[in-house]
Formats: sequence, C-alpha cells, structure tokens
Amino acid sequence: MKILVTGGLGFIGSNFIRHLLSRRKQASVVNLDALTYAGNPANLADLQDDPRYRWVKGDIADPKAVEAAMAGAEAVVHFAAETHVDRSILDASRFLRTNIVGSQVLFDAALRHEIGRFIHVSTDEVYGSVPKGFSKEGDRLEPNSPYAASKAASDLLARSYFVTHKLPVIVTRASNNFGPYQYPEKALPLMITNWMDGEPFPLYGDGLQVRDWLYVVDHARAIDLLIDKGQPGEIYNIGGTFHCNNRRIIEETRRLMGVSEGLVKPVADRPGHDRRYALDCRKLKALGFKHEYAFRQALAATVDWYRAHQSWWRPLKKRGGYKSYYSRQYGGRLAAKP
Ligand code: NAD
Ligand code: DAU
Repeated sequence: MKILVTGGLGFIGSNFIRHLLSRRKQASVVNLDALTYAGNPANLADLQDDPRYRWVKGDIADPKAVEAAMAGAEAVVHFAAETHVDRSILDASRFLRTNIVGSQVLFDAALRHEIGRFIHVSTDEVYGSVPKGFSKEGDRLEPNSPYAASKAASDLLARSYFVTHKLPVIVTRASNNFGPYQYPEKALPLMITNWMDGEPFPLYGDGLQVRDWLYVVDHARAIDLLIDKGQPGEIYNIGGTFHCNNRRIIEETRRLMGVSEGLVKPVADRPGHDRRYALDCRKLKALGFKHEYAFRQALAATVDWYRAHQSWWRPLKKRGGYKSYYSRQYGGRLAAKP
C-alpha cells in the first residue's frame, strides 16, 4: 500500500511513519512536509536509506505540490498543521491557512486521485473545555483557541466532503500526546529539558487544568488500526491512559527526574485556557484497540530519550530560548497572588 503522509517530519507524524513501516513491510510512504519550525528531517534520519520512504518538501495549501505528492497513493494520513495553542493566540493567520485551506486542498486532490482511505488527524480540543463527563464523537464543538477553532473547521469540512462527495474520510480526535521527538515548546518536553538544565518550568495559572496523556506510539497504533478497521464518515476519539491536572504531571515528572520542588515558576495564565479535556473512547475500543504502554513506563522512556538526545533538542532550544513561547512573548509575567 502506498500512503501519502502529511506533516511526517513533525512529532506525531514521524513516530507514525516509523511505526507503520516497521509493521507493514509492503507499505511505502511519501511524506509531504513543508519543514516549518516544527518539522525536522532528523526525526526520520533512521529511514533516509529505506527505499520505502521519501520526503517531498512542499506546502499542503499549494495544489501543485499536493497533486504531485499524491500521485499513485491509495491512502492519505493527514497530520500537517500548525499545532501550538500559544502561537495561535499570538497570530492565528498561519493556523487558518494550513489547518483549514491546506485540508481543503488535500480533500479536493483526494477526490481527483480516488483515494480509498483518508485519515484526518484532529484533536480533543475541538470539544472545548468539558467540566464533567467525557466527550463523545457526536458532541457539539466548542473550540476556545484559534488553533482549536481551525481544527474544528477542518473537521466540519471533512464531514462535508464525506456527505457531499463521498470522500472516504475518517476523523480522529486524540488527546495530549507525549514521547520522543516532541518539539520542546510543548509542556512535557519543555519541563524535562528545562529541568535537565536546572531551569524552572513556567506553570500557567493555578495548574489545575486537566489533560489526558497519550503515548505517541499508542496514537500511531490507533491510526494504523483505523486505516484497516475505521468506517468512512465516522469520527474516533483516541484518549490516553493518564487523566490528571498539570500539577500532578509536574509531580510525576519531578519524582522521576529527582528534581526539587522549587523548579516551578507560576506565570500568568494562557488566555482562554481550557480547564479540562476528557474523551470517551468506547468507539475505538469496540474495534479492538488496546493501549500497549502504561503511563509511568512511557514517561520514564520519554525522560530517558531526552537525556540521550541532547544533540536533537539543544539546537531547537537555542533558537527559541529556554522559556516557553508564551511566557517569552509576554515577558514571563508572574501570576498574580491568589
Ligand atoms: P508538529 O507541530 O510537531 O508537526 C507539524 C508538522 O507539520 C511539521 O513537520 C511541519 O513542518 C508540518 N507542516 C506545518 N505546516 C505545513 C504545511 N503548510 N504544509 C506541509 N507541512 C506542514 O505537530 P504534532 O504535534 O505532531 O501534531 C500532528 C497532528 O496531530 C496535528 O494535526 C495536530 O493537530 C494533531 N494532534 C496533536 C496532538 C498533540 O498532542 N501534539 C494531539 C492531538 C492531535
Ligand atoms: O489536547 C490535544 C492538544 O494537546 C493538541 O491538539 C495540541 O496540538 C497540543 O499542543 C496539545 O495542546 P495543549 O495546549 O494541551 O498542550 P501544551 O503542551 O501546550 O500544554 C499542556 C498543558 O500545560 C496546558 O494546560 C497548558 C500547560 N502549560 C503549557 C506550557 C507550554 C503550562 O502550564 N506551561 C507551559 O509552558
């Protein structure tokens, strides 16, 4: 099977391609990736001599680039996106272009190429903050950040291409991923790498925001399963194995790394910060999906990976400074005393 993957030089895309090619010996992958700040050819350096893998540099919003990359593909797995909530608060324009227009260009090309299966990778953030209970696939969408709104728009576009054009598209909505090759502006890699250098982690607001942590390889396994077993026109939630607030994640990581409590710096909250995400994943599990990685084992493997791959993340952090993108932009404001 020849598969077009978009955004395969990013965090989840690169982990997915590695998993797919190790599991499906007959598969080949064309990876269409524009190499934005979040993309990195080093993420797939181990595959550069594999004849089943090819990276094509190109923008998903460019119809010519998409047309050429999709030639001969039987399936598409679409990861490419602008993904960092804080960046979308500071400037939403790239989010709308890539996440919405880019998806539309891919859907149109997929119709012309009679693609048999299109996996549109989305996020639990489209449901907005869920005070209690668990989001089901049919729940209303209430995105709160420009990033989440752009993903929700693309999910609705995917639905419309299924209803109107019969595009065999499947939408997946995953929770917070963690693991190797995650760009060190996201919470967990920022925390791990700051602490390795004795620098504090900037904690937004009161730190009681709840997330559902999914090991990236389990996410890749779920998508792989949906290529075979997912139903066109359907949406599947993909949740993790550890549902907790940010203070707890800090505590788990701190204990694992042997770091002192002082290395957390409260800073002003993210505007529009979603309080809680929670997914009901019974639909995915009914297809036979089971997580393979327990949270603590996966977190320990992730910490080990960042310890062993300093030549991967140090240049990225040097480019961006040690503080998070958001707190750099806002001068690292300290949170008001409660
Ligand atoms: P990432 O930011 O690490 O990587 C994005 C990749 O897309 C990069 O390689 C980048 O170069 C590429 N890209 C960006 N704009 C492009 C364009 N216009 N044309 C071609 N390539 C482009 O992203 P990630 O965290 O791996 O997320 C991948 C997908 O999974 C996204 O669609 C995201 O919304 C979704 N998702 C992410 C998470 C998470 O926790 N990271 C959770 C749920 C869903
Ligand atoms: O839920 C899925 C989403 O998870 C994906 O769709 C997004 O692409 C991905 O970036 C992620 O979004 P979050 O905003 O949840 O992840 P982030 O790593 O930015 O933040 C996780 C939590 O930690 C969140 O409550 C904000 C908080 N945080 C984050 C950073 C970067 C801090 O307290 N301090 C920080 O410096």
